[in-house]
Amino acid sequence: MSAIARAGSENTPAGAGLAPATRQIHVGYTPGTPQNTVAVPIYQSAAYEFESFAAARDTFALRRPGNIYSRNGNPTNAVLERRVADLEGGAGAVALGSGQAAVAVALLTLVAAAGPGSARGPGMPHHIVASNKLYGGTSDLLGDTFADLGIEVTFVDPLDLAAWEAALRETTRAVFLESIGNPILTVPDIAAIADLAHSRGVPVVIDNTMATPVLLRPIELGADIVVHSATKYLGGHGTSIAGVIVDAGTFDFTAEAPRWPRLTRPYHRFGDIVFTEEFDGSGGRTPFLVLARAKAVHDLGPTLSPFNAAQIIQGIETLELRIRRQTQTAFELAEFLVEQPQVARVHHPGLPGHPEHALAGRLLPEGLGSVFAFDLAVDPVQVETFVDALELFALVANIGDTRSLVVHPATMTHSRLDEAGRAGAGIELTTVRLSIGLEDPADLRRDLAAALAALTPAAAASATDHSPALAH
Ligand SMILES: Cc1ncc(COP(=O)(O)O)c(C=O)c1O
Repeated sequence: MSAIARAGSENTPAGAGLAPATRQIHVGYTPGTPQNTVAVPIYQSAAYEFESFAAARDTFALRRPGNIYSRNGNPTNAVLERRVADLEGGAGAVALGSGQAAVAVALLTLVAAAGPGSARGPGMPHHIVASNKLYGGTSDLLGDTFADLGIEVTFVDPLDLAAWEAALRETTRAVFLESIGNPILTVPDIAAIADLAHSRGVPVVIDNTMATPVLLRPIELGADIVVHSATKYLGGHGTSIAGVIVDAGTFDFTAEAPRWPRLTRPYHRFGDIVFTEEFDGSGGRTPFLVLARAKAVHDLGPTLSPFNAAQIIQGIETLELRIRRQTQTAFELAEFLVEQPQVARVHHPGLPGHPEHALAGRLLPEGLGSVFAFDLAVDPVQVETFVDALELFALVANIGDTRSLVVHPATMTHSRLDEAGRAGAGIELTTVRLSIGLEDPADLRRDLAAALAALTPAAAASATDHSPALAH
């Protein structure tokens, strides 16, 4: 056992031949060093003592790996980083204080790698192409805060390959999408989008929160960088906010070096080192991750507390088990809902007849996770009646918990989108999102049935579309 863990802690392909369910418990931590704790200790230390002046100087200069200050890195967080990197098949990872921070730091690091404005020429802001089917907070970040920072974002339908192609520009520095779109379960063809982006020299960043590496490993499909809201399934118990960025380490920033001056030319701030020459990915130190840690994480401070990291590490130990059970229950409930007269459509590509059924079956043969949405066949004012009638489903703006949760995206998670943005995201006023937990499936079905029964027949009859249908 210790050999497995030791291999993982050195960031080698740990325990080759071992299944994910084994790796999620052992990789990245070697019991016995230094205090024999079998569980990963919480290293509650803000800073670290250097053994010598030379060690301090070389660590600050990035020439030597090591702990400096917990804003930038911490030994407990490092276990989480190694474990998620391993599960995703990446070269390394950086843990952050939230999923939102993971998305922001990943994209800001790519934009920063493209250098300051002068390198792009006047009037040429950095550009990102992003899916229009995103978690609402990500839409806020990309559509509002990034706009404030002068970063242009073009939103496209993730299923429309021609739209991705048309949106790519000379100044595009990232393509961003979710492996499964939240909340209506859009399943984009990651491999095709990655081929397109790579042919134009652009790295692909995938938010894999909704699928988790249990169901989909974006790096195997061509993704360069994977981000997670670890708050969701990785932690799994709704206790801690956290995020992770994983770098595949495969995007060649030197292929078109002038596009990435901060990685491919001497960087004065860091002693004129050239990141792509200095860092080869060993020990998880890829050029991209070292830049992310030394720049966006150091400068902006979106740090993960080691206590929260320990909570996420513990959650990951049961990830595979939870995902399989929750995925199965969610699918059973989607099958139940599609038969109900009060339901207009169910956004679950696992259902036969759904427009993306074949693609989802190819990309996600083991299922689509525990989150899905459906549209009620009622007047929008009746949504309140349905949601308030639910007893087991908690009205909570979160997903991936052991508890079953319900959300009304139009007034909650996606409430800041305008009408066009909401339409682009596929969200109606009658759309309800569920995140299925670990309760008994029959109890959840009874709860949904009772809440549907609370809808008045008159309200149901007033809906425009009575026949249950499949999205979109
Ligand atoms: C798909 C997805 N990405 C990112 C985030 C942001 O993560 P966090 O809430 O951990 O900041 C969320 C949160 O709901 C999410 O659902």
